[in-house]
Amino acid sequence: MSADKPRLLPLLPTTNTFGRSSVTCRYRCGDACSHDVPNTSDNPYFADVVAQVGRRRLLRAGAVLTVAGAGLAVGAGTATAHGKGNGHGSGHGPGHGSGHGTGLDFRPVAPNTEDRIVAPAGYDQDVVIRWGDPVLPGAPRFDFANQTAAAQAQQFGYNNDFCGLVPLPGRRDAWLMVSNHEYTTETHMFLGYDEDNPTREQVETAWAAHGLSVVVVEKARRGGLEVRLDRHYNRRITVGTEFAFTGPAAGSRHLRTSADPRGRRVLGTLNNCAGGVTPWGTILSGEENFNQYFANADAVTDPVTKARLARYGLAGGASGRRWENHDRRFDLVREPNEANRFGWIVEVDPLEPDSTPVKHTALGRFKHEGANVIVARDGRVVAYMGDDERFDYLYKFVSDKKMKRGNSRHARAHNRTLLESGTLYVARLTGDGAQDGEFDGAGEWIPLARGDRSFVDGFTAEEVYVFTRQAADAVAPTKMDRPEDVEPSPRTGRIYAALTNNTDRGKPGKEGPTEPNPRAANKHGHVLEIEEHRGDNTATRFSWKLLLVCGDPNSPDTYFGGYDKSQVSPISCPDNVAFDSAGNLWISTDGNALSTNDGLFAVPVAGPERGHVKQFLTVPHGAETCGPVVTDDFVLVSVQHPGELDGASADNPLSHWPDGGTSQPRPSVVAVWKH
Ligand code: FEO
Ligand code: CA
Ligand code: CA
Repeated sequence: MSADKPRLLPLLPTTNTFGRSSVTCRYRCGDACSHDVPNTSDNPYFADVVAQVGRRRLLRAGAVLTVAGAGLAVGAGTATAHGKGNGHGSGHGPGHGSGHGTGLDFRPVAPNTEDRIVAPAGYDQDVVIRWGDPVLPGAPRFDFANQTAAAQAQQFGYNNDFCGLVPLPGRRDAWLMVSNHEYTTETHMFLGYDEDNPTREQVETAWAAHGLSVVVVEKARRGGLEVRLDRHYNRRITVGTEFAFTGPAAGSRHLRTSADPRGRRVLGTLNNCAGGVTPWGTILSGEENFNQYFANADAVTDPVTKARLARYGLAGGASGRRWENHDRRFDLVREPNEANRFGWIVEVDPLEPDSTPVKHTALGRFKHEGANVIVARDGRVVAYMGDDERFDYLYKFVSDKKMKRGNSRHARAHNRTLLESGTLYVARLTGDGAQDGEFDGAGEWIPLARGDRSFVDGFTAEEVYVFTRQAADAVAPTKMDRPEDVEPSPRTGRIYAALTNNTDRGKPGKEGPTEPNPRAANKHGHVLEIEEHRGDNTATRFSWKLLLVCGDPNSPDTYFGGYDKSQVSPISCPDNVAFDSAGNLWISTDGNALSTNDGLFAVPVAGPERGHVKQFLTVPHGAETCGPVVTDDFVLVSVQHPGELDGASADNPLSHWPDGGTSQPRPSVVAVWKH
């Protein structure tokens, strides 16, 4: 469009109640939050008597946290900024800066609605790679108006979410940077896009814009990172890349299709959201809202199949992107099992660019946000995972085998099998009542299956793995407020789960507030902290408490770990979490319901600064902050869907980030470093 064409500024953008634009809801999640909640199980919340009494009293008061928050405020009020209790009572982070030993000595960024990245004074920033930039040597230059699938398959994909760095052996300050390309927003990618009749080239371009990118990056002299067009390592994974199933459900009859009668190979990965770098140097990535790509669930007649589809949000007729018109596997009537081949945790070994990426059936199938692994004391590995849906569950997987140390071929080959055999658990949390001034309690990991053995009555092991949500429903886990990233602290082994929001909590017919999810119509989300019994990540019992109940700190229904709320940054809709070397928790947000841009925040989790949330940066208008990587030298963020505002499109862009002028917005990875 021309530079001088007047443009409507989205001063009052139409957003959903949780702050996300409707175009993002549609293309990213398939409008998950506008559909009925797929978890219709009636499993109850297990609270002890004290909690029941406390909850009844709070409910009588009419606003759960107005009362509970008052109790909590006593704790905050009696504590000085340096003298309050600190959660589980551990010591300080080591600190590598000024202040109170946390190293977080930047001046917080104020909430804003600017169309740029705002970082603290004294910090520089630069784009590392943007949608359409070359990944493979010889890739064509990005040409927005003339995109082709062939070009896109060699370029950085769309809407990058997770970002991970794997050190390149033998090379200083060089890494393999792996990015997930969660979804495509066709109305923002193509001029004059016709949603009912996408062209074959547009559909194939979208297939190539999904998946993952692997690029070599090196530290740049001026700061930040530079991409190297490396012939050996750089790689694109797309909807056309072959994956192998591993683990106990590989070959299951539920995974077989006409293209793959053995149920062992599948083309592509979809809606890869968050992820993690494993201790053995591979990447895990979660297939999240895969349901939206499949058409014609409403024409499936078999009641068992229909119920299974419904539990995963597979419903309705034509899919949003109409892929079924170009590949029959996306039509559930023709290939009812194809959707069962998505919703897994994917593992990619970026150090072996010719390796076949895998989907691990032992980690269950749900709307996997991501997976993060820690090595337990005995050498087994434990993966923590969230199922990002309103009223769905937290999971963990404990491997049978122990990790081998070192980077030998033998060790690497062994470690790539760690997630193939083990025990899959789902979490049940019990509150101890709000009278103690904390949202806290106990919990247990309920086993679902191990290898070929099912622990769930009425479900075979293969059914547990392929239809995990339904198997979990049968053992009454705790319904959570959209579990997103779940990540163990490498320093303490405690686990932090971002529960992004759930505006349905407390609605008629839906579960009301519980101690671990204490707010009705929870539009700002909260952050849960779990400590495994005796610090053993393989344990089946744990204690938990809420670190943050997010929102405007001036609002009585928020809680910042007991820290003085007049000193913290507002935070809403926590999504991805990461840790710095001092053990501070970093949180990126998605869908800020406070009407300002999303951002990246840092918060100490121990010591006198526990709960002191500080905003480190904000991303451009309409964007979401994803994939944070925090090192001592730089911070990386994925800027996903910049300018994705209602009324915006490729024909009417409402952001011009990162290239300015009249340019189209482009999702990118950005580095920020101290000047
Ligand atoms: Fe793709 Fe749950 O965020
Ligand atoms: Ca309590
Ligand atoms: Ca996410």
